[in-house]
Amino acid sequence: MLKALRNAGIAIAAMSVLAAGAQAASMDKPVAARQAVMKINGFYMGQLGAMAKGKMEYNAKTAQAAANSLLALAKMNTGSMWVPGSGNDKLGDKTRAKPEIWSTYPDVANKGKDLVMALEGMVKVVGSGVDGLRGSIGAVGKACGGCHKPFREKK
Ligand code: HEC
Repeated sequence: MLKALRNAGIAIAAMSVLAAGAQAASMDKPVAARQAVMKINGFYMGQLGAMAKGKMEYNAKTAQAAANSLLALAKMNTGSMWVPGSGNDKLGDKTRAKPEIWSTYPDVANKGKDLVMALEGMVKVVGSGVDGLRGSIGAVGKACGGCHKPFREKK
């Protein structure tokens, strides 16, 4: 009897280890997807930043396309990529998303709205010349940083 109980205990422990592993694996895709969205954000902001600094020649079409794309991304519903329990408290190095994203919700959603607002300002002026870009990129960068500061782990 005792032995049977002990074996059952071992079996249950083994099952919960397996379940934890399966759960972590099921987070891989949503985590990869949200990191991909952020990489695209980084790509377009890199182009806009280089043009604003004069490291890349200003091109109205390229600038407009970058801003429009950033706005489309910011408006995209990425809710299902931010699965509760997929913060770095649970997943370690796989993610830099802090658990505060979920524990202080909806703060993070408001940061997302700040970004949409900044980008709506940018899309109106970014194609008008480099001054339009320079005048609007600060607010966008601030909105990115405004979310990273509380919700993204430092490297
Ligand atoms: C609403 C919050 C929020 C906003 C707004 C936001 N980010 Fe992020 N960003 C995050 C979080 C959280 C992570 C970490 C994601 C992870 O590792 O799972 C991240 C990660 C990143 C990464 C690293 C991606 C990787 O894994 O390689 C880049 C680059 C990035 N963001 C760029 C930007 C840029 C540029 C903007 C503005 C246009 C922006 N982000 C706006 C929350 C935000």
